[in-house]
Amino acid sequence: MVALASPKPITLYPAAATEGGAHAARDAFGRAMTYLRISLTDRCNFRCLYCMPAVGMKFQPRDEHLTDDELLRLVGLFARLGVTKLRLTGGEPTVRPKLVELVRGMKAVPGIEELSMTTNALLLGRMAGPLKEAGLDRVNVSIDTLDPDKFKLMTRGGRLDLVWAGIEAADAVGLRPIKLNSVVVRGQNDHEVGTLAELTVERPWQVRFLEIMPLEGVGDVHDQGLVSSEETLARLEAQFGPLDPVATDPSDPARLWRIRGAAGTVGFISPVSAPFCAACNRVRLTADGMLRLCLLRPDEADLRDLLRSGADDEALERRMRVAVWRKPWGHGLAEGERETIRGMSQIGG
Ligand code: 5AD
Ligand code: SF4
Repeated sequence: MVALASPKPITLYPAAATEGGAHAARDAFGRAMTYLRISLTDRCNFRCLYCMPAVGMKFQPRDEHLTDDELLRLVGLFARLGVTKLRLTGGEPTVRPKLVELVRGMKAVPGIEELSMTTNALLLGRMAGPLKEAGLDRVNVSIDTLDPDKFKLMTRGGRLDLVWAGIEAADAVGLRPIKLNSVVVRGQNDHEVGTLAELTVERPWQVRFLEIMPLEGVGDVHDQGLVSSEETLARLEAQFGPLDPVATDPSDPARLWRIRGAAGTVGFISPVSAPFCAACNRVRLTADGMLRLCLLRPDEADLRDLLRSGADDEALERRMRVAVWRKPWGHGLAEGERETIRGMSQIGG
C-alpha cells in the first residue's frame, strides 16, 4: 500500500473567516461577527442635519427599549458567539439613564475585550471620568466644524464650547486614542476640512471624514451634500502637501493618512464611493432589541420578543446564529437602494 501524505491545510476563506474561533457566529460568506454595535437609545440632545429631519422626528416609547438586564443578558450571549468588541451608540448614548453602571456590567462580561462609544461629547465634561473608571476604553466624537456658529447650525442648537470641553476631558482621563468623526456636507463644512485635519498636527488624534449616507429622513441632504473622500483628500493635499498613507486593519472602515510630520492621522470613511463590506465583521443591536445585520438594509431579527416571551439561552442563541448567517453581502447604495424605514439615530451609526 502506498502511504498517503498527510493532507495539507487548505485555506477556504479570506482572513476574516479565521477570526473569532470555531464557535464564532458566521455569515454565509464566512465573515465572523466579532464586533457588536449597540444603540442604547434613539434620543439625542442634538439634531444634526445629516442625521435627523428638521421636523417630524418620532421617538420610540421607552418601554420598547431593552432594559439594562436584557442588554446584559444579550451581551453575554453575543460574547459566547464570538463577539469581543462592543461599541455603544445612539441616538446619543450618554442620555441613557444609568449609563455608567451599564458600562461596568458590559465590561465585566467574560469575552468582552474592548468597549468603546460613539458620542457627541456634550455630556463628557462630567461623564468622562466615571465612564473611564467603569471600564470604557475609548470614544469616537462626532464634530463637524470648529466654528461655533456653524456648529450651532449643523447640530441645530449645539454648543461647541461644551463639546470641546467634553473632548478634552475624554483625552485627559485616557479614553484614547481619541477619534473625531466629521460628516462632510457640501455648502456646510466642506471648506473647513483643513481646520479639522490641522488638529492632528499637534495632537495624536485621528480625525476622520465621512461621506454622508442617505438614511431615512436625510435623503435630500445626501443628494445635495455628498462630498466624496477623494474630493476631501484633494482639498487637504492642496493645503498640506501630499499626505502619506498609513497601514490599517482591513476591518477598519477608515483608510488612514498622515500630514507630513503630524502627531495624529487623518482618516476617510467612504461607504458611498468605496464600500468596505467585504471585510465587514459587525452587526448591530437597536435600542428596541432588533439584531440588525447591515447598517443600510432593513433585514432584522427580533430578539426583544423572544426575550420577553421567556425564551431560554439556547433559543436566543439559535435566532442570533440564524440571523447572522443571512447577513447581506453588503449595501446597495451604488445600485440606488435606500434605507427608508429607520434613520441613523434609530439604528446606531
Ligand atoms: N451619513 C454618515 N454618517 C452619519 N452619521 C450620522 N448620520 C450620518 C449620515 N447620514 C454619523 C455621525 C456619528 C455616527 C453616529 O454616525 O457623525 O459619527
Ligand atoms: Fe457591513 Fe452593511 Fe456597513 Fe457594509 S454597509 S460595512 S455590510 S454594515
